[in-house]
Amino acid sequence: MKILIAASEAFPFCKTGGLADVTGALSQVFSRTEGTEVVLFLPRYRNVGGGAFSLKAAGGSFLIPMGNHVETATMSRVQWGKVAVYFIENPKYFDRPGMYRSAAGDFEDNDERFIFFSRAVLEGAKFIGFKPDIIHCHDWQTGLVPAYLRTLSRLDSFFSKTASVFTVHNIAYQGMFPKETLLKAGFSWQDFTPERLEYYGGINFMKAGLIFADLITTVSPTYAGEIQYRAEFGHGMDGVLRHRASDLFGILNGIDDEIWDPATDTFLERGYELKSFRRGKAASKKALQKELGLEENKDTVLAGVVSRLDSQKGLDVLLNAAPEFLDKMQFVVLGQGDPGLSDAFSALSAANPRRAAFKVGFNESLAHRIYAGADIFVMPSRFEPCGLPQMISMRYGALPLVTRTGGLKDTVFYNGEPKDSNGFAIDDADEGQLRSVLGHIISLYAWKENWNMMVRNAMSGDYSWSKSAEAYLKLFNIAAQRRQL
Ligand code: ADP
Ligand code: GLC
Repeated sequence: MKILIAASEAFPFCKTGGLADVTGALSQVFSRTEGTEVVLFLPRYRNVGGGAFSLKAAGGSFLIPMGNHVETATMSRVQWGKVAVYFIENPKYFDRPGMYRSAAGDFEDNDERFIFFSRAVLEGAKFIGFKPDIIHCHDWQTGLVPAYLRTLSRLDSFFSKTASVFTVHNIAYQGMFPKETLLKAGFSWQDFTPERLEYYGGINFMKAGLIFADLITTVSPTYAGEIQYRAEFGHGMDGVLRHRASDLFGILNGIDDEIWDPATDTFLERGYELKSFRRGKAASKKALQKELGLEENKDTVLAGVVSRLDSQKGLDVLLNAAPEFLDKMQFVVLGQGDPGLSDAFSALSAANPRRAAFKVGFNESLAHRIYAGADIFVMPSRFEPCGLPQMISMRYGALPLVTRTGGLKDTVFYNGEPKDSNGFAIDDADEGQLRSVLGHIISLYAWKENWNMMVRNAMSGDYSWSKSAEAYLKLFNIAAQRRQL
């Protein structure tokens, strides 16, 4: 089976969040399955290339119609294991700081940038002679690809057997643009109906993916239900999703168990595994406390956070609850995003430098040391399509404290009985609930036997991609067979 993955980010090339972890890991996992051939298409942002990867020009160029003018696409290529990665280049669209936004907000030409990318993916496939059975698209940035396949490229024999699968990683971000964008995208006004591309008078790239893809997936079973049946989770797409209910599947994300392995993690001074976790975690905690100028105390519960700073993640609730726990807990927060939250965490840390540390920015290596050094990992999300940090933290023996939503509900189990629990959970991102569970955590921490039992449960869970990758490949087969009919 020939699989083309089209995405706006993939680790280790470009990453703003979990989407990149997933597209990167999936392309590797698919490529290692017998009988598959995998190519990955990404935009060539400014900082892509260099480091371990040396990109080679793919030779030649092709033109992409953009409304009343054309733009040139060139490509570069790198072989990444068994995956051939192609980067779509156009300096006007991609050679700038940032992937989707600047400090002033979303880039104003994001519609053009991802129209260009989506069309260039299809042209690029032809250019390299890769006739995909499946195009696997991810989130709004590639939502137009399924739409092109069923409209402008409908009669193109090159894609006559190509099916598309669209994966929703976060329905809160949809790529909504005014109706003029329709012209830049090259669609006909006949497609500008509520059943197809129109959305409240404009065009919505996420909706395009949901309407036109052969099959739709989202990144956890619980989220698949939430976005159909709870309007506040569906962000206006619940009707469209219910309409496609029989084609919509929730497949839980995994984590890359080579990148996230406390035994071999080169960012840690000393690795550890399930058998040796007590000494390993104690050493990691001490090193983290030292690195961040916190009091080096093994008996204080150390709570970690690695996150985008965004209201989705519920960290304002943690911020409000934290001060009253500062005498019994330490807080380490790594994140970037909302300036208000960032300032508030800075202030908390400045006022309590031995108890709270805040690092702003994106920092891969510190993230690893936080997962390893923390006793608990706090993730009180208001909604969470899947969430990866709760799985990473479990693998590293930091017990996650989560809300019962989306993928958090599908991965963290807490019923008050340590033997059946691998973390802690509250129903909502609510200060009272958070306070009460933090209080419980402090008393439980002193009770080492139970605590360690939970850590063992967490560390021995299976967070790998194996089951989920199989589920995707099954769906790919179903989608491809439908196209053969
Ligand atoms: P998101 O909604 O942000 O995509 P996920 O839970 O799917 O959230 O995954 C977030 C991923 O990004 C995890 O791998 C996490 O470790 C990483 N991450 C988030 N913020 C940072 C940061 N500031 N520095 C380093 N890694 C980060
Ligand atoms: C999104 C979601 C997150 C999910 C990630 C990868 O960014 O917010 O919950 O884990 O995509 O699928």
